[in-house]
Amino acid sequence: MSQVYSVAVVVGSLRKDSYNRKVALALAALAPSGLSLNIIEIGDLALYNEDIDVEPPESYKRFREQIRKSDAVLFVTPEYNRSVPGVLKNAIDVGSRPYGQSAWNGKPAAVISVSPGAIGGFGANQHLRQSLVFLDMPCMQMPEAYLGAAASLFEESGQLSEKTRPFLQTFIDKFAAWVKLIKAD
Ligand code: FNR
Repeated sequence: MSQVYSVAVVVGSLRKDSYNRKVALALAALAPSGLSLNIIEIGDLALYNEDIDVEPPESYKRFREQIRKSDAVLFVTPEYNRSVPGVLKNAIDVGSRPYGQSAWNGKPAAVISVSPGAIGGFGANQHLRQSLVFLDMPCMQMPEAYLGAAASLFEESGQLSEKTRPFLQTFIDKFAAWVKLIKAD
């Protein structure tokens, strides 16, 4: 049987009707057979504080373990004030500690940003890529994915629009190839 890589999907929005979560679920449905995508929840993570990390809360332990067990990570995020939403930055910080034991270390990654705005969360996407360099996560360069006009990505029924599908299919197929390349090292 051929290898199936598990991908932790981290969504940078906690909103019930989040466009980013919808895109994440659409990508999970489009993923080729070599990838298995699962959303890892971040809403219960206490704000990172080294003092409480002396006896880490269950939420920190659960999150770090889920990331550690995954072969790769896909970030799907909105932009807040031209940067990464605090909830996502917090999750990144939680996963990166204790010092020297980062759960992110070496995992292949990709970033997709989704916004109702015209520039598709470019600022968040690029700031996130900066963190991934420091976390030593080889991040897929192309295709870049800045999805603007978020409402138009879906039909009224909630289904992915036919206009959006080909790009997301290409994105997830290329990510599958990227994960395979990095994990084969
Ligand atoms: C936003 N939003 C936003 N959009 C954008 O394109 N650039 C930005 O800098 C910001 N800044 C921003 C700050 C804060 C605090 C909020 C709450 C929102 C709008 C944002 O893109 C919009 O709410 C999206 O719908 C959020 O993504 P989800 O929740 O739909 O996935």
